[in-house]
Amino acid sequence: MNIAVIGTGYVGLVSGVCFAEFGFNVVCVDNDVSKILNLQKGLVPIYEPGLDKILSKNSEAGRLKFTSKIAEAIVTADIIFIAVGTPSKSDGSADLSYVYNAIEEMSAYVNHNAILVIKSTVPVGTTRKIKQFLINKGINIDVAFNPEFLKEGAAVDDFMHPDRVILGIESKKAQKALFNVYRPLYVFNIPFVFTDWETAELSKYASNAFLAMKVTFINEMADLCESCGADINEVALAMGLDKRIGSKFLQAGPGYGGSCFPKDTSALNDFADKLGVQLPLVQETIKSNNKRRKKMVEKILSACNYDLKGKNISVLGVTFKANTDDMRDSPSVEIINELISRGAYVRIYDPSFSKQAKEIFDNLEWSNNAYDNCNNADAVVILTDWSEFRALNLHELNKRVKSPLLIDLRNIYTLSDVKEAGFSYCSVGRAFRGNE
Ligand code: UDX
Repeated sequence: MNIAVIGTGYVGLVSGVCFAEFGFNVVCVDNDVSKILNLQKGLVPIYEPGLDKILSKNSEAGRLKFTSKIAEAIVTADIIFIAVGTPSKSDGSADLSYVYNAIEEMSAYVNHNAILVIKSTVPVGTTRKIKQFLINKGINIDVAFNPEFLKEGAAVDDFMHPDRVILGIESKKAQKALFNVYRPLYVFNIPFVFTDWETAELSKYASNAFLAMKVTFINEMADLCESCGADINEVALAMGLDKRIGSKFLQAGPGYGGSCFPKDTSALNDFADKLGVQLPLVQETIKSNNKRRKKMVEKILSACNYDLKGKNISVLGVTFKANTDDMRDSPSVEIINELISRGAYVRIYDPSFSKQAKEIFDNLEWSNNAYDNCNNADAVVILTDWSEFRALNLHELNKRVKSPLLIDLRNIYTLSDVKEAGFSYCSVGRAFRGNE
């Protein structure tokens, strides 16, 4: 079976490479010629651990090709995946122009037995509109919707070991063909959910909105913990042991970011609003999360006795989460800009050496490691939970800093770790520990 994947971003590239790993012949298409040239050389444009190895292996095996000429991919394709971006428009709705451009382009070459599969996250009802769009052009091919649940930084593993495969289909033919595409997962007893287009589309938004709400809930509980003396990490542990709640996505922090939660929550809210359906929980999740960045600045200010003028702040981690180089909607942007506006000198170290981050904070000083970044610091702020920040030698850090204040917005450390190393410690959802 020949597969074409249009779009080689975080979703398209991982999907194309993994389909090739399943043994299919895959051609990935992108209109970014330089990206395609790099991919042809085996250069992976995204920070996705393990992706480069399986990309090279499958390219060398001749199963995986990259092209900027859509015709090359489409004419022989049995299954065509659309995996282009659906960014938020200024009104919060999803921008579908890349999806329709891709479909317009491919429609000139599509073989009439092919199946078109939308993998991009699209508002409910979009797959049906795409079907009609194609019929209006005289193209009557099967169309399906197959959402992705790939976490950045864990996308290959999430693709190979999903909790479920959701397939919105319109025919037995599509069901059979797509079952075959994902058959390699079947051997792991991965559940397949075959359903209609709208149900599949909403399942994607509902899943992401629920996860965003779960993170926001634990962040609000963290605020309550700070006022009542409870420990949010232990509250999360105690909650998560209830199988109905589950322990994932209960890590309190600076609020969610990334290219999906913010976009998908606002698109879902916008879509419901247009149907006259109010989603107060989703609306409050968005509001609560947006307010959280300012709350984190307040926390840092308070730990620095409300005086940041001329203070050296060492920031460890700026990407929206660990194991990615992605800065989209990262809490660090608003937080760092607020600190600078209050007179702080901010220096950054991020293990991804993210190019996006260097462009955003192009006027700030960067270090090559956490320790140098803490030289002469008045405060150290951990913004992203990179694993290398979990075992810092705090005694060594204490020798570097000007004043031993650690503000840990990801609760990486325990109060005792930090106290023993002589730091004052400020974290999320746990009492401030000055140097008592
Ligand atoms: C998310 C969904 O998990 C994935 O299924 C979907 O396909 C794309 O969007 P991603 O945005 O890559 O994936 O990151 P994720 O790991 O879900 O984290 C999202 C945000 O929530 C990050 O800012 C992260 O820091 C935050 N988060 C996550 C928390 O603050 N606490 C948690 O416990 C988990």
